[in-house]
Amino acid sequence: MSHQNPLVLTLQDLETEALSAIRAAPDAGALEDLRVSYLGRKEGRISEILRGLGGLEADQRPPVGAEANRVKDVLQQALKARETEVASAGGDSGAGIEDLTLPARQRWKGGVHPVNRVVDEIWSIFRSMGFVRARGPEAETEWYNFVALNTPLDHPAADEQDTLYLRDSALLRSHTSPVQVRTMEKYEPPIRIIAPGMAYRRDSYDATHTPAFTQIEGLVVDEGITFIDFKATLAEFARRFWGSGTKVRFRPSFFPFTEPSAEVDVKRVITKKDGTRGESDWIEIMGAGMVDPNVLENVGYDPERYTGFAFGMGPARIAMLKYGVPDLRIFLQHDIRFLSQFTTGRAP
Ligand code: DAH
Repeated sequence: MSHQNPLVLTLQDLETEALSAIRAAPDAGALEDLRVSYLGRKEGRISEILRGLGGLEADQRPPVGAEANRVKDVLQQALKARETEVASAGGDSGAGIEDLTLPARQRWKGGVHPVNRVVDEIWSIFRSMGFVRARGPEAETEWYNFVALNTPLDHPAADEQDTLYLRDSALLRSHTSPVQVRTMEKYEPPIRIIAPGMAYRRDSYDATHTPAFTQIEGLVVDEGITFIDFKATLAEFARRFWGSGTKVRFRPSFFPFTEPSAEVDVKRVITKKDGTRGESDWIEIMGAGMVDPNVLENVGYDPERYTGFAFGMGPARIAMLKYGVPDLRIFLQHDIRFLSQFTTGRAP
């Protein structure tokens, strides 16, 4: 055999070098760079040799040409094979690192907080009875929180022992009742509002008290509103919320802004452990009453012409009953194991 053209050896070195580079290429971009540097039309090192065949001795052309074409085929196949590999390993990032058998990361579904669920439910019942939603600021003045509501500042509720004062006569509202005053100042009767919101008191933090809590205020004012409208509206609400067999009781009470005042209790139909029907104890669900004429006067309404009723309730207490939660603090702790029971998604 005559001596080999040195180009054949060069081609074999290039083949070895290119193959190992191709096998190590991490992604499609790196493979394209390799393709260009070996097989690219202009600067590819194999292409260069093929282009130079014309300058060789006639008897050297066939062996060098054949070897160049063989190496070109081998590299093209290797590029294609590696391309498929990096694509199936999940794209351009670190081929072979991902474990495709791992379970997918769980998607969390949000849910409505149990107290807000109760607020929404209460709101939708009153909305269907023609009420509209109202709101007011959480930072209030003594006028809106107490004085306009017929509550003198020497009343125990206005005491610094019970109310969180900000400065001077500015305070965090201790109930949602100031929304009554703000609404009546702004609009003429007929008024039919529901005002859910936060209220704040200097209270202990225990199973039945929290210094920040949600309240829902209601107010109806018009000509000819009577005690019958008051009782019928609230009894209708209770029966829609707890079921048609629910009994409702109005217990005489006192609030400075209503006269007469009442506490409203309900007795629910329950299914006992042995499957028979029974009744719950009486439970208090709200404070309420006919709007005191002094309040109407304070907002510039004529108490000879207009009458009304008002009520206020704590949806967190209602949520405790509804969902069998023994401690109010659970609603504020945001423990995902508790809250996830109220989502439509899966528990963790
Ligand atoms: N504001 C009262 C409270 O926080 C609740 C209340 C009682 C609201 C009677 C009313 C009402 O509108 O008429 O304890």
